Amino acid sequence: MAGVKRSLAVDVGGVLLPTPVMIASGCAGTGRELAGLVDPHKLGAIVSRSVTLAPRKGTPTPRIAESASGIVWSTGLQNPGIEVFVKEELPRLVHTGAPVIVSIAGGTMEEYVRLTSLLQARPGVVAIETQISGRDEELGREVLASRPDRAAEIVGAVARMSMIPVFAKLPLLADVVEVARGCVRAGATGLTLIDALPALGVTASRLRPSLGSVSGWLSGPAIRPVALRAVFDVASAMPDVPILGCGGVRTGEDAVEMMLAGAWAVQVGTATVVDPGAPVNVATGVLAYLKEKGLASPADLRGRLRLPAAPDPEGSW
Ligand SMILES: Cc1cc2nc3c(=O)[nH]c(=O)nc-3n(C[C@H](O)[C@H](O)[C@H](O)COP(=O)(O)O)c2cc1C
Repeated sequence: MAGVKRSLAVDVGGVLLPTPVMIASGCAGTGRELAGLVDPHKLGAIVSRSVTLAPRKGTPTPRIAESASGIVWSTGLQNPGIEVFVKEELPRLVHTGAPVIVSIAGGTMEEYVRLTSLLQARPGVVAIETQISGRDEELGREVLASRPDRAAEIVGAVARMSMIPVFAKLPLLADVVEVARGCVRAGATGLTLIDALPALGVTASRLRPSLGSVSGWLSGPAIRPVALRAVFDVASAMPDVPILGCGGVRTGEDAVEMMLAGAWAVQVGTATVVDPGAPVNVATGVLAYLKEKGLASPADLRGRLRLPAAPDPEGSW
């Protein structure tokens, strides 16, 4: 439509991004791998792989197995530890020119607090994302984020210390809205929904698990409807809270659907591993959709899903 001043730029809770399409945590390598394959200036942001206090060697190979419409994988959060990350990997990511969000992970509250303090005042870092899907070493629970109070405790501690916005990344949870609310009340600027789903690959011909770590995580298009539901539920409950939709986004249309469900921006994970150009292609697709519909900005898509006037009396089954 003529006369519409159109831009892909988005403001997610005070974080200004050139496009609403970022690379999800763990899917941009160390920053080196993308060189020459993608123009970083066309990325919304790069989310670093999750960094822990101490280095992690990661899980035994094989680490990736194919599955219908997705991959089953496990990295064991391999990373060099925060000290080396800050010295070597972070400057490389910042040097690309794309806004950088640093993902932090741990098993105790102290780890998250120390990681946050070591990330203070790092130029080029626009936000922190807390990965809280791992094991809670203090309380002996399988998933740190499994209870609203515990998720709020960890995310709140990070948010109180951080000088930049904090996004709480949540796994798939039955009470995702309650956990999300707890994180926001505790000080999170926004939420990343969702992390990969627990999964297992089996190779029948070898009578073995497909991954060296035995169990792992499912990501890719297979989880997209699951992510859409989580985004929709949380956005419906808290429409003013920025949500970064993550899970199976591969095309511009996928990203548009995620934003119609309520996301403010999207993250592209598995599709970037398969094709480093994917996030830029997704952004191009979003722009084409905006043009087609005569819309000015990705913010115009947010939560614009047209819902039936009266809810179905039979409920959601
Ligand atoms: C190879 C690989 C490594 C990943 N590493 C991390 C990580 O370090 N931290 C994290 O929070 N998520 C990690 N993820 C999960 C993604 O960030 C994303 O939440 C998930 O894969 C769903 O998005 P997708 O379907 O677009 O891949 C990883 C995913 C893959 C495929």
